[in-house]
Amino acid sequence: MNATVLLGPPGAGKGTVAEVLVDKGYVHISTGELLREQIRLETPLGLEAKKLMDQGRFVPDDVVVAMIRNLLESAENDTRFLFDGFPRTLGQAEKLDELIQSLGGSLERVVLLECPDDAIVERLAGRRTCGKCGSVYHVTFNPPSHGNVCDVEGCQLSQRTDDTEKTIRKRLDVYAERTAPLISYYEARNLIQPINANQPIEHVRADVVASIS
Ligand code: AP5
Repeated sequence: MNATVLLGPPGAGKGTVAEVLVDKGYVHISTGELLREQIRLETPLGLEAKKLMDQGRFVPDDVVVAMIRNLLESAENDTRFLFDGFPRTLGQAEKLDELIQSLGGSLERVVLLECPDDAIVERLAGRRTCGKCGSVYHVTFNPPSHGNVCDVEGCQLSQRTDDTEKTIRKRLDVYAERTAPLISYYEARNLIQPINANQPIEHVRADVVASIS
């Protein structure tokens, strides 16, 4: 197996970029989406995670690493993983290195989506998502074809409970404190591929596709 990491602050567009890479054969793993699935299923893990996520805080490393370990260990050898929102701490990054090494795989690159805070707040405040298929829209930058309805499922779109301005600011602070140090961790291994994510969606997607080919 080999892996690509999508790194960047909340709302930089990791999920939006991932959609186009899935079409190119990548298996998309979003730890945020895995946790929201646990919340929808109302599992004990989901109920604990929701409290932290609604405050903009991280779920403990061991919980997230266990989810990733299960997925990696059950994957085919030739799988190309695309990690979105993982790793998020130095501890998670070290565990990911160990896991990949134990499976004989390689971490190919870390695509860093760079975007200023003001643009992020505007993006997250206008984000709408489909509870059924996970499609992501924006009221202005990427609106659905009809009203507030998912193009794929035809159901009403909703706002994530962590997309309030207060929680967005907290998530940005936590990113700066705990996730941004991963940039130098991966820079030291020449794995970082920076992308200007502060441009229209199609431009960002095209730049990412060009950077991985
Ligand atoms: P997670 O779901 O990973 O959230 P996040 O990292 O905060 O990222 P987002 O999903 O908010 O943003 P995105 O970068 O994917 O942007 P998107 O493409 O949607 O995590 C949520 C929570 O779960 C965390 O806070 C934490 O509590 C927990 N968690 C998850 N993983 C964890 C881990 N590993 N360890 C511990 N805890 C963990 O785009 C955003 C909006 O902008 C959309 O509306 C989109 O249409 C629009 N948009 C996208 N690109 C553009 C563009 N170029 N121009 C204009 N608009 C754009």
